[in-house]
Amino acid sequence: MCWIFAYKWTGIACDFLIDWLKNLEYRWYDSAWVSLISDDWEIYVEKAIWKVSNLASKIENDKKDLSKYHVWIAHTRWATHWWVTLENTHPHHSQNGRFFLVHNWIIENYIDLKKELTQVWYKFYWNTDSEIVANLIEYTFEKDLETTMKKVKELITWAYALVVIDKQNPNQIIAIKLWSPLVIWISADNLFLSSDANALSNITQKYIPIDDNEMVIIDKNNYKIINNQKEIEKDSFESIKNTTQNDMWDFKHFMLKEIFEVPNIIENILWGRINFQNYEIKSNSLDKLDLPNIKKIEIIASGTSYNAWMIWTYLFEDLADIPSQIHISTEFKYKKQFINDKTLYIFISQSGETADSLECLKMVKNRWWKTFWIVNVVWSSIARLCDNWLYTHCWVEIWVASTKAFIGQLLTLIIIALYIWNKNNLDYTKYKKIIDWLAKLKDDINMVLLNSHKVEEIAIKYANFKNMFFLGRNMFYPLAMEWSLKCKEITYNHTESYSAWELKHWPLSLIQEDFPTILLNPESKLYEKNISTLKEVQARNGKVIWILSQNDEHKLEYFDTIEVPKSNEYNSLFTIWVVLQLFAYYMANNLWREIDKPRNLAKSVTVE
Ligand code: M6R
Repeated sequence: MCWIFAYKWTGIACDFLIDWLKNLEYRWYDSAWVSLISDDWEIYVEKAIWKVSNLASKIENDKKDLSKYHVWIAHTRWATHWWVTLENTHPHHSQNGRFFLVHNWIIENYIDLKKELTQVWYKFYWNTDSEIVANLIEYTFEKDLETTMKKVKELITWAYALVVIDKQNPNQIIAIKLWSPLVIWISADNLFLSSDANALSNITQKYIPIDDNEMVIIDKNNYKIINNQKEIEKDSFESIKNTTQNDMWDFKHFMLKEIFEVPNIIENILWGRINFQNYEIKSNSLDKLDLPNIKKIEIIASGTSYNAWMIWTYLFEDLADIPSQIHISTEFKYKKQFINDKTLYIFISQSGETADSLECLKMVKNRWWKTFWIVNVVWSSIARLCDNWLYTHCWVEIWVASTKAFIGQLLTLIIIALYIWNKNNLDYTKYKKIIDWLAKLKDDINMVLLNSHKVEEIAIKYANFKNMFFLGRNMFYPLAMEWSLKCKEITYNHTESYSAWELKHWPLSLIQEDFPTILLNPESKLYEKNISTLKEVQARNGKVIWILSQNDEHKLEYFDTIEVPKSNEYNSLFTIWVVLQLFAYYMANNLWREIDKPRNLAKSVTVE
């Protein structure tokens, strides 16, 4: 799984190439490479493992005159097959050194193809599926690359975005795709192919998304798109220009910057959809829902998006009075499904590219079930496939740990629940009260951010504990799950989350002085129950970090406390979320972790 990028330029300085590749680095960062081709058939290839800056240094040391190369393909890699080594780093090329390619995802029939090619005396320099495709192109070559790629497309199975160059035709780039995202970007003088919008946000906003089974041929300054052997016309779109998303401002890490963007995101989401004067919720997408016929909601997501949903099931059942069930994406796909036309299937994804979720969406759509998507990236595959959707309006989330997207998801979900609640004529006084609280949410979050030094102090104190429990009850239990996920993801410390009710069933056996517990207990209907949990942990010499509402009268008894503004349970979910993000961040910072690029992970998980 990699992130690819190719372009045909007319005179842009080569320094930009590395900048664009750096803009893609947030996606994958195991290795990077670049391959350039000149008019006189000269190919220049450079590779480096880990950071793009390593590649940049190598290119600088090579002291090449890059201005004569005008077709460029490159990628940043996230290893799926074999280790992170130079040998495994693309580009892969055919045996005769004529065809070079970059490939995302995995060719599943590569072992059979390799057997066939070996029988006709092909030798392989490495073991990757991508090298096999390069040789398949050489072996099946007929007439020109376009004709050959049409044949190759029929021979390879599942799944790819492949960009290929032919040394003997240095003006052409050909790409084919199945599942893995691919977009053409068009500027006044240049054509680009990319898996991601972010690389080019400063250059052009005009794009054409490529669909499965289509082929793109870029030749000199023109492009054509082929579908089913015929050239087709496709509409272009304009993405929203955001020139600040790749800028870290004065923050030490993107993660911190994105946490501090949350108050503005809240404003973006709420003020666009809720009228705080007359309590109306405006949304064309929600108006399209056939509410009287929705008797159940099934929800499908992965990772942090799954945790946002988990919280929502509590909220939603409470607010909208409709049963809901949540599934981890891939588990859903391989589990027996009971088709029911009274069920609405809702998917949620920050990136809109998560393969596990995307596959479930296609499966659901194939059976004509109703689908709804909550997604952040407007041009993503998921956004283009769904019947009906809401965008989370969080701007691009740059680095691996999901931060502000979670807030966007949760807030959007609350809006959906409130909308359904109102339409179903449930308790209007309670509905209005929640909206009044939401109007205060931005100020509450600002308050927590202002006191971030207190969170930092406690996070540093606990950074070196190798094990930790996170406990919460009811909707604060999935919030504890998210806290634990974030700590593991960026600190590599072992943490576990449980519903506080579970403690006595077995987790208590692990409690001792060096195994602290974070307990989420803002003002809520289960406050007293949580006090009992605290006592149980204390009685076993366990250290406790207590997250509570301001002016809590029990405060003095506790070992360490972090306060959030006194509010209703819904607002507390958000303020505690900010505390949890800051806590995980400051712990990881204290441990000198590479916070924006946690080991072994990728931003978008585009393989199953
Ligand atoms: O883009 P998605 O929301 O579909 O991504 C789902 C997960 O891969 C993602 O939330 C992941 O768990 C994050 N790195 C967690 O911080």
